[in-house]
Amino acid sequence: PRIVVLLSGSGTNLQALIDAEAGGELGGKIVGVISNRPGVKGLQRAEAAGIDAQLLDHTGFSSRDAFDAALQSLIDQYRPDLVVLAGFMRILTPAFTEHYQGRMLNIHPSLLPKYQGLHTHQRALDAGDDCHGVTVHFVTAELDGGPAVIQAIVPIIEGDTAESLSARVQVQEHKIYPMAVRWFAEGRLKYHQGKAWLDEQ
Ligand code: GRF
Repeated sequence: PRIVVLLSGSGTNLQALIDAEAGGELGGKIVGVISNRPGVKGLQRAEAAGIDAQLLDHTGFSSRDAFDAALQSLIDQYRPDLVVLAGFMRILTPAFTEHYQGRMLNIHPSLLPKYQGLHTHQRALDAGDDCHGVTVHFVTAELDGGPAVIQAIVPIIEGDTAESLSARVQVQEHKIYPMAVRWFAEGRLKYHQGKAWLDEQ
C-alpha cells in the first residue's frame, strides 16, 4: 500500500513511520511527504530518507477551500491508499475529509474524546487528571472527532509540566502510530459506517 504523510513541523512521528518501514514493520511504502510550512524538520527527514517531499504553503492561498483543493490534487498524484496526518496543523474542509473518508488517519495527543483541539497537555494538567495519553483515529469532518483506532494511556506524575508530559506522550505516539498504519496496510483495520473495525489476525 502507498502512504502519503502530511505534516507541519518537526516530524518525529514521520520518523517513527520511516524507521518502521526501514525495519520491514510498516506493511506499506511512504511515497510522499507534504508540508504546509516551509523549512520544517519533517521535510528534511523525508529527504534524508529518500522520500519525495513537497511544500504546499497555505499562506499562498486565498481561502481554505482553495488550499484544500490544491492539497487534494497534490496528494492524489501519489495515488495513495492511506493518508497519514502527522502533526498537520490545519483544519480541513468537509469536502476534503469526505474525499479521504476511511483512508485518512490522524494522531491526537489526548485520550479522545477529551481535549479536542490545541494545548492538550496543559489542559490535562489544569484539570488535575491523573492520566493523559494519545489517540490514533480515522479523520472525519469533525475536528479530532472521528472513530478511535488505538489509544495509549500515559500517567501524569508529580511535578509534570506540559513539556515533560508531552515528551512521555510522544514516546507512545511513536509506538502506536506505526502499529495503526500497519494494521491498515495489512487490511485488518477498516472504516465502516462511521466506526473503526479491527479484524482478528
Ligand atoms: C504530535 O504531538 C501529534 O500528536 C500532534 O502533533 C504532534 C506532531 O509531532 N498531532 P511531530 O511533528 O510528529 O514531532
